[in-house]
Amino acid sequence: MDNFQYFNPTQVVFGKNTIESIGKNIKKDKITKVMLLAGSGSIKQNGVYDKVVKSLNSSQIEFVEYWGVRPNPTLVHAEEVKAFAKANNIDGILAVGGGSVIDEAKSISGGYYLDSIWDLFGAKVQPKAALPIYVILTLSATGTEMNSFAVLSNEDEKRKWSFGSPLVYPKISIIDPSVQATLPKRQTANGGVDSLSHLMENYFMSNLNNEIGLTLNEVTQRTVISQIDNLMENPNDYTARANFAWSSTIALNGMTSIGMLGGEWTSHAIEHALSILNPEVAHAEGLSVIFPAFINYVYDAKPEIFDRWAANVYGIQNGLEGTEVMKSKFKSWSSPTTLRELGFSKSDYPEIIKCIEEYGRTGRIKQLSEESFIKILDLAY
Ligand code: NZQ
Ligand code: ZN
Repeated sequence: MDNFQYFNPTQVVFGKNTIESIGKNIKKDKITKVMLLAGSGSIKQNGVYDKVVKSLNSSQIEFVEYWGVRPNPTLVHAEEVKAFAKANNIDGILAVGGGSVIDEAKSISGGYYLDSIWDLFGAKVQPKAALPIYVILTLSATGTEMNSFAVLSNEDEKRKWSFGSPLVYPKISIIDPSVQATLPKRQTANGGVDSLSHLMENYFMSNLNNEIGLTLNEVTQRTVISQIDNLMENPNDYTARANFAWSSTIALNGMTSIGMLGGEWTSHAIEHALSILNPEVAHAEGLSVIFPAFINYVYDAKPEIFDRWAANVYGIQNGLEGTEVMKSKFKSWSSPTTLRELGFSKSDYPEIIKCIEEYGRTGRIKQLSEESFIKILDLAY
């Protein structure tokens, strides 16, 4: 088993009727004024916003609001929000939404004392201070509610990049799975694919001597699959929402990647290229297309790990056959599995590859060249 470090300071408050505790939880930290950050309005439709406002009011937490965070959130919007936050002298950010809202909150928080938020990305600058972040999660998918990463799109530079800092772990994340019953099926499926992708990006980098790490990761993958299957049948199944929600959190909070050398992340890098070039592509939809193709391309570099994965997650002895079963699973959730479904054609390859190469962080299992990316894209076409 390889050496590892584990650290995670986020306090999770999980379960039904937990959103009501947000005011008290913020007050505990002696915060008196927050900025509530949200997306396009789903939280007004499903009652989450009313619960949050009531709780803040009853704990006498002052708040201002900023709306309009978009899926695949942008640098331009984050800078607008940062200016608004500074003008309003807030002490912390309350992110209410899915990964996009939370990631934009983290970007504003980490970039609050810098000239430009974008300095965080590409590891140019490590923040020395940040605003505290509080989270009400409404979509389980990204794991951002309990990790130190954020992803932002710089549309002018055509870069969808990430940054990480221990300063942007949320102080508290409230996860009430019942509020996810209002998710469209597409977003529930996306949550499943993204969570599985996080588990796989780490798993495939592991050595086989990491029995506890691999087993924990496999059981989390199996749980994601069974619970998403249940939710496709019955979106109101609280037990399935809850089991899936926690699986999704631990898929990227460090717990299921112990001893896995930081993971592989090539499929994520390729996905980031797809959704910066076409922001209509949801993160998980890109992954659903790319991940099976990636495994097919790199299988021969590490067949033993892919074979173990296929056997223990899908009950199939061979990794390549297991990948086909996974692809059928994605299709059964109505997730796309070809680049054409995402609106890309072969003439887009040069631009996609330029974005992948600028981002870097690819090819840990097997070294990848421009020719390799063409082959992976062809397998996904
Ligand atoms: O606009 P709102 O009202 O928020 O509606 C959202 C949005 O339209 C809606 N939604 C959220 N909760 C809902 C709901 N609709 C009904 N009922 C609810 N309870 O769902 C839509 C998608 O939301 P979004 O936040 O964009 O989705 P997701 O959570 O998948 O986040 C995706 C972003 O996270 C990044 C992705 O790249 C992408 O930008 N990631 C962040 C990571 C991290 N920080 O660790 C890791 C991931 O690999 C990923 O890259
Ligand atoms: Zn992801």
